[in-house]
Amino acid sequence: MPANTTRLLRLPVALVMLLFLSCKHEPLEIVNPDPNPEDTTGQTGISCNPDTAYFRNEVLPLLVSGCGMSGCHDAASAMDGVVLTSYESIITTGEIVAGNPGSSELYEKITEADAEDRMPPPPMAALTTDQILLIRKWIEQGAKNNYCDAACDTTNFAFSTAIEPLINKNCAGCHNATLASGGIRLDNYAAVKTQADNGNLLGTISHQNGYVAMPQGGAKLSDCQITQVKKWIASGSPDN
Ligand code: HEC
Repeated sequence: MPANTTRLLRLPVALVMLLFLSCKHEPLEIVNPDPNPEDTTGQTGISCNPDTAYFRNEVLPLLVSGCGMSGCHDAASAMDGVVLTSYESIITTGEIVAGNPGSSELYEKITEADAEDRMPPPPMAALTTDQILLIRKWIEQGAKNNYCDAACDTTNFAFSTAIEPLINKNCAGCHNATLASGGIRLDNYAAVKTQADNGNLLGTISHQNGYVAMPQGGAKLSDCQITQVKKWIASGSPDN
C-alpha cells in the first residue's frame, strides 16, 4: 500500500476508536491521590479507629518533637527547605505522595539505610520501627489531616500510664540526652519530677505568662492532658 494511503486510513480509524471508547467507557478514573485530603481539624466526636493512623493525634507530635526542633526543621531553621511543623508544610516540603510511602521523600529519609543520609541524623537515634510504621500507614491511608477523639481520662494521672506516654510523645524528642533543648531533659522520671517541682512543667504546657509555650512549635496539649499533669503534680508527682 502506498504510504499516503496508509496515512489517509489512519484518521478514520482513530475517529472510530475514539467514538468507541467514549461510548463504551465511563469517564477515565483519576489515578492521582486525592490532592485535598479530608480535613478534620477541630472536629470532635470522631472516635479513634485502631486501624487508622491519625495525623493530628500521632503523626504531627512525632514529627514536631522528632524533627521540627530549632536548628533542624522548624519554620525558622528550615534546613534544606524542609519544615515539619504543620500539615501543609509536611505535605509540601516533606514531598509526601499520598498513598505511596516509597515515593515520599520524608519516608525515604527516615528509612535510609546509610546513616549519613538518614533523618534524624546521627548522633540522634533513628526513629523506632513503630514510629516508621505509623508514618508509613498514615501515607498509605491517604496522608490526611485527620483527627480522632483519643480516649483521655482525667481520672488516670499515674506517671507510667498517663504522664510518661504523653511526655514521650510530645516532648522527649527535644528534651533528651542527645538534645536537651533549653538545657532540659524530660526522658526519665527524675528529670520530669525536677520540672514538675520547679513549676516549669505546668507553666510551659498551660502557656502561663512568663513561661515559654510548650511543645515548641506544636499544638497545645488538650485540656484533658493538662488536667492529668495538674492532678499528678497535686498528688506529689509520684513515680507510680
Ligand atoms: C520541637 C522541640 C521541642 C518540643 C517538642 C518541646 N520543647 Fe520544651 N523547649 C524547647 C526549646 C528549644 C526550649 C528552650 C526555649 C527557650 O529557652 O527559649 C525549651 C524549653 C523548655 C522548658 C524550659 C522553659 C522555661 O521557661 O525555662 C521546659 C520546662 C520545656 N521546654 C518543657 C517541654 C514540655 C513539657 C514539652 C512537651 C509538652 C516540650 N518542652 C516540648 C524545645 C522543645
